[in-house]
Order: sequence, then C-alpha cells, then structure tokens
Amino acid sequence: MKNKIKKICCIGAGYVGGPTMAVIAKYSPDIQINVVDTNEKRISQWNKKDLTLLPIYEPGLDQIIEKTRGINLHFSSEVNKNIEQADMIFISVNTPTKTKGLGAGQASDLKWVEACARQVASFAKGHTIIVEKSTLPVRTAEVIKNILEGSKSKKSSEEKDIKSFEVLSNPEFLSEGTAIRDLEKPDRVLIGGENTNAIEALSQIYLNWVPKEKILQTNIWSSELAKLTANAFLAQRISSINSIGALCEATGADVREVARAIGTDSRIGAKFLDSGPGFGGSCFKKDILNLVYLSKYFGLPEVAKFWEGVVDLNNWHQKRISELIVKKLFGTISGKKIVILGFAFKANTNDTRESSAIQICKDLIQEGALLYIHDPKVISEQICNDLNASLIKEGESKDKGNYWFRVDDITSSLKDADAVLILTEWDDYSDINWDLASKIMRHPAWVFDARSIVDSKKILASDLNFWRIGDGSII
Ligand code: UDX
Ligand code: ADP
Repeated sequence: MKNKIKKICCIGAGYVGGPTMAVIAKYSPDIQINVVDTNEKRISQWNKKDLTLLPIYEPGLDQIIEKTRGINLHFSSEVNKNIEQADMIFISVNTPTKTKGLGAGQASDLKWVEACARQVASFAKGHTIIVEKSTLPVRTAEVIKNILEGSKSKKSSEEKDIKSFEVLSNPEFLSEGTAIRDLEKPDRVLIGGENTNAIEALSQIYLNWVPKEKILQTNIWSSELAKLTANAFLAQRISSINSIGALCEATGADVREVARAIGTDSRIGAKFLDSGPGFGGSCFKKDILNLVYLSKYFGLPEVAKFWEGVVDLNNWHQKRISELIVKKLFGTISGKKIVILGFAFKANTNDTRESSAIQICKDLIQEGALLYIHDPKVISEQICNDLNASLIKEGESKDKGNYWFRVDDITSSLKDADAVLILTEWDDYSDINWDLASKIMRHPAWVFDARSIVDSKKILASDLNFWRIGDGSII
C-alpha cells in the first residue's frame, strides 16, 4: 500500500499523547513510535522502571507501557531527530486559553502548535503526514499548512522537491480516567482531511483494532469543529443538570430522580446527567470559549452568548457551593476546620486542570477556613500550584490566615472538623465510617456531598447534618 506508515513521532507526551501512542503501539507492533517532549522531567518519568511513577495516572496504562516500552514505543526529548525520521507526526501539545493579547480569556493559545509546525517544517524529510491531535480551534490546519508551505518556499529548489506534507485532523475523544478503554473501544474515530492517501494511511493504523464502520471521514474543518461541538454539548448537559439541581434544592425535588426520569427518554439518554460541583478538565471550558471566540469573530453574537451561558452557569455553580457552606456554618467559616475530599477534576485521574476544587477551595480559604485536603492521586506540589503558591502554602503559619494541610489518613483528619466536603467521586470516599466520624467531629458538624457518593441513610442515621447536591428532599 502507498504510504504505509513505519515510523511515528508524537510531539507532546501529555494526557493525550502518552495514552494514545501506548494504545497504537499495542496494536501496531510493526510501527516504531517515538513520543517526544521538550519537558525532560516528563520524559524521564515516562521512562521510569517503577511504573507507579509514570507522569500520568490512567487505569490500564501501566500494563501497556510495560509490554511496549523499549520495543516499539519510546519516550525521548530528542525532538528534531525523531521528526526527521518519522513518516507520520502527531501533534499532541497543550493549547490552553490565551491569557493576554487578542482573544485573551477565550481564544486558544496556539504558540506551542506553531512552534511544533516550525520544527516539523525545518526537520521533516521526504513525505510527512501531520496529524492534529490536540484540541484546536477551527481552521488551525490552515495555519499549520501555511507554516509548512512557507518553509518549503525558503529552501533551495533541490530541497523543495524532496519535502512534502499532508495535514489531517484526528481529534481525540478520550476521557481521562477511562482513556485506555476509550482508545481501545472508541465510539468513533474521526479523520478529517483532503488527501485520500493520507487518510487511508491513518485509517490503516486504526483498522488494526477499530472496526471499519467506526472510522468516519469528513472534511478537515468539519472534523475540527466536531471536536469542539462534542465537548460543548457534553458540558452543556452538565450545566443543564446543575441548573436543575439548584432548582431541586429550592423546591424539594431530588436531581437524581429528575435525571433518572428524563434519562429514560431515549431521545435524551442517561449519560452525563450527574449533578456535581461543576465540570472541570482541560477541554470543556477551553473548547466552549473557543466556540464563543469563533462565533464572535464570524459575526454571530447570539451564538456566542448561548455557549457563554454554559460556562457562566458552571462558574456560578461553583460559587454557589462555597456560599452555601458558609451559610450552613452560621454565616462564618473563619478558623473552622473543613476536610476536603478530592482535588482532581474527577475520579481516576491525577489531573487537576480546571478542577472545581480549585475555585471552591480558594473561596473557602478567602473566608478564613482551615482546609485539610485529601486526594489519593494528586500530589501536594500540584495542589500548592493550583491554590496559588505565592498566597497559600501547605502548612503555612496560621497567623497569615491563608493555609491548607495535606491529609493522608481520612479518619484521623476528621478529628474536631466542622465539616467535610466531597468534591471528587473517588471510591475511597464511599465507605467512610460516619458513626465514628460523628464521634470525633466538632458539633454541629456537616457533611457536604457534591458528588452524591455517600450513603445518605448512613449519614442521616448519625447525628451529622447532611447536604447533598441537588437534593431538596433532605429536611
Ligand atoms: C472530556 C470529554 O468527555 C472527552 O471526550 C474529550 O476528549 C476531553 O474532554 P474529560 O475532560 O477527561 O473528557 O472528562 P469528562 O468525563 O468528560 O468529565 C468532565 C467534567 O464533567 C468532570 O469534571 C466531571 O466530573 C464532570 N461531569 C461529567 C459531571 O459533573 N457530570 C457528569 O454527568 C459527567
Ligand atoms: P494534553 O492534555 O493536551 O495532552 P499536556 O499539557 O498534558 O496536554 O501535554 C502537552 C505536552 O506537550 C507537554 O508535556 C509539553 O511539554 C509538550 N510540548 C509543548 N510544546 C512542545 C514542543 N514544541 N515540542 C515538544 N513538546 C512540546
């Protein structure tokens, strides 16, 4: 077959690049895959013998790494050399929201993508297929193409003839925590592009484990927009159910019952209807803000306003939770001990990007609370960074007023606590001994369950006060 891929280079060894390449390596033993990253610390973590020290936690990932690493999957910081040798290059670098300049707060910062494209333009040899994996704004492929084409015109005519590029969009739909399952059994694989040979070459890789009917081909712009749209629709469902949750609390309804009632309507479906502390993760907010920016740019302010509402609701919802806690604790939490269970943006990941826990904890600290934070996978350094290391340090002197402590043993941390707030649905939190907790907490003590994870009957049987997200039926 024309364009049979033998060497892949993946630029970016993060939450997308790492697991995606591991799964491709597992099912494509004939392909040599080099995952490269400029972050040498990250690369050395990927190469650690002890698989519990991989830079990202993802169930099942360690087993695949064990079987493929050093055989057809390699991690290295030699970016240029690996670009040069590859016949297919995946771009899996970070694309956070811009913090300054044109489009600040909404548009994606493409500086890392642009830097990648320039590196590829300089070092690639022969015919190279470039695959966009990062979540990108619509028409980024055009930017990449322009950079690649521009670089060719600067070369001598001899060199010009031997370099050629094709750009494909192949957005990633994996969800953290279930990344390996999502990659191995995807609902669909989307490939956007113009060149049939390039599309065929990428399809052949996926066909090693994905049924043909699940590989969808579209034009490149539809593929880029489909990724943003999928995330926007999912996030919209969460804001919708969280808005209804607030109404449930006010009216005596229970959001779980409402979700079940509407989820059985096959047109609505049951997934993504769990009310929680608000959506987090690296994609939802960023992708919606991208849609907002695009809509404004193309003169569609009503469309922009519609999607902006989804993010506004999420921000309001996070504030609502911290305000509610202050209210329940007699209007002040100054000097009160609150145990926070969970800091990751969801269970089964060590990722904290855009986690609701960040804003909620900051708000509680601003109100003067003493936070005792537990998370089975998020390290203290990460929590410190997220809570703004310059303001709030782990174990900082009480005199400064702003501080938090790490919790390793949940039961002992509950001693003299005024409240417990559950923010991530880790299994560890579902079987806490609330009877014992009640004996050692300071009364009147509260349990705030923002994930509906604890057994409400057990709590209500103890003498703890209980609040559960979206549950207006608790008296
Ligand atoms: C998301 C998309 O699901 C995935 O397809 C895309 O590739 C990347 O973005 P991810 O961010 O890993 O994946 O997590 P996801 O499971 O979608 O959850 C996002 C947030 O929504 C989490 O904070 C989660 O707790 C929250 N959520 C999810 C809810 O509050 N309720 C739900 O019912 C589902
Ligand atoms: P994602 O969730 O999209 O995978 P991450 O932030 O986890 O995002 O990973 C992106 C990775 O891309 C980071 O480890 C970063 O160091 C890497 N990266 C960014 N730009 C470049 C570049 N020009 N060359 C190599 N690696 C890069």
